[in-house]
Amino acid sequence: MQNKGISQAVIGRLPRYLRYLGDLRENGVERVSSQELSALMRVTASQIRQDFNNFGGFGQQGYGYNVDYLYTEISKILGLDHEHSFIIIGAGNLGRALGNYLNFERRGFIFKGIFDMNPELEGIEVRGVKIRRIEELEGFLKENPVEIAVLTIPKTGAVGLVDMLVSNGIRGIWNFAHVDLDVPKGVQVENVHLSDSLMKLSYNISRYNGSKKK
Ligand code: NAI
Repeated sequence: MQNKGISQAVIGRLPRYLRYLGDLRENGVERVSSQELSALMRVTASQIRQDFNNFGGFGQQGYGYNVDYLYTEISKILGLDHEHSFIIIGAGNLGRALGNYLNFERRGFIFKGIFDMNPELEGIEVRGVKIRRIEELEGFLKENPVEIAVLTIPKTGAVGLVDMLVSNGIRGIWNFAHVDLDVPKGVQVENVHLSDSLMKLSYNISRYNGSKKK
């Protein structure tokens, strides 16, 4: 399968396809046309065909898409056909909420550890995983290879941790700290800013109100 140089916009749409295909699969649907998927997902059929063409297309003329096959292929493209271990740094409100979210595990993201600088949190369990002190982090990584670090700490702390994380094998950072991180080539960072989405909502509300006033 050819999937080099695919735009991040397409990659960003794949999880949504996967969710819908997962629902279809659970409901016993075996095949779906781009028109049907288009009606379900409220995107154009041509967008769907274009997106899937990036990977050589998955469908057959007149048949549509085999749901199970498509689900499996998109899972593979997203790297969900194997497990990813992760740790959380910062066991505050956000860190604990993420640690408690079971669906990550169902997708193959395995919660290995959670660390915090606040000694009072040590030993408290988050979904069966004890909070450890941040001082233990480097030793932990040396003994337990981990792929992903989730940063749910303020930006100042995040910047100072990156080098240590990378030199101890971390390959991906899911960054909730409000700062852009400098990482070496080969290390991936995915920034999440929930407020961006909220501001988009605010924009859309304002725009709608604006158009109603006319
Ligand atoms: P919180 O105050 O409940 O938790 C932060 C935790 O991080 C505390 O337990 C603290 O002891 C620990 N901590 C701070 N610096 C540390 C360090 N260098 N090493 C280890 N532990 C450290 O805050 P909350 O609500 O959980 O938010 C965490 C961070 O994430 C905040 O900086 C906040 O700005 C950011 N945030 C980002 C969001 C986003 O969408 N990107 C959404 C919500 C929060």
